Amino acid sequence: MHRLLLDCDPGLDDAVALALAMASPEFEVLAVSTVAANAPIDVVTANAEQVMDRLACPCPLFQGAAQPLTIEARHSTDLWGGDGILPLAPPGRASKRLDREGFERLAQEADVVCAIGSLTNIAGLIARGRRPRRLVIMGGALGRGNATPHAELNIWADPHAAQIVFASGIPITLVPLDITRGLIVPGEMTAALTCADTRAARLVGELLPYAGSNAQPAAIHDAAVIALLLWPGLFTPERGRISVVTEGPEEGRTHFTAAADGPHDVLTQVVRDDLFRHMQRRLCGED
Ligand code: RIB
Ligand code: CA
Repeated sequence: MHRLLLDCDPGLDDAVALALAMASPEFEVLAVSTVAANAPIDVVTANAEQVMDRLACPCPLFQGAAQPLTIEARHSTDLWGGDGILPLAPPGRASKRLDREGFERLAQEADVVCAIGSLTNIAGLIARGRRPRRLVIMGGALGRGNATPHAELNIWADPHAAQIVFASGIPITLVPLDITRGLIVPGEMTAALTCADTRAARLVGELLPYAGSNAQPAAIHDAAVIALLLWPGLFTPERGRISVVTEGPEEGRTHFTAAADGPHDVLTQVVRDDLFRHMQRRLCGED
């Protein structure tokens, strides 16, 4: 069993990632933490609380960074419009809140910290000498970005934090936009999820029709992080070194240099149809 900490900015695809993690007995989710990226911190934390309530998630919630390390806060809602609020009813019960000390402790205890928002919280951990054992990060683009032609949103939202994290020496697997942008759930899968009777399937089936609206991503980028931990054979990694451009017109660009002795793994391919087949079965409680 992997003990996970999920550092997120829900976000529809973050919600799918949480649902997949919560539906998987391979994981114990120690905590959920939020960071501003998709939307301001109060919006993403309220979204996280609603998602956790719907999933009956028993772990605590930590509200993390509202601001990037150096630049002014910027969000996907600034780029693509909308308010970033997920279309869910207010939570029936409030999540237990974690303080910073608790967050830092659990981030070190976790086998894997899944970072699916900007990297501000993770850079903060490193600055305070609290190093996660392993990071799996959704972010970056080796080719075209989505926030700018050069930059993917999670890196663009705090490039200085991202550079600190990639230079830290912590083992990192990067799930980049290049392989996640095509992960758009087929209509028949959404229909099947809507009819299923698990919490995870119903939540995802309810949210997916909003994909592509109100600054909610159409591709389920962040769920690929959880899928990688569950079904690594569906992905092809390449070893090397990642760095981040922090200034100038290409701010937020991720550079990758292949190297057999590099500290990072970047995923370069995914078997999309098998991924959706496995995901549907897991969300529906069929395997
Ligand atoms: O670029 C995709 C990333 O940005 C995902 O984490 C998604 O939630 C959006 O914020
Ligand atoms: Ca996200």
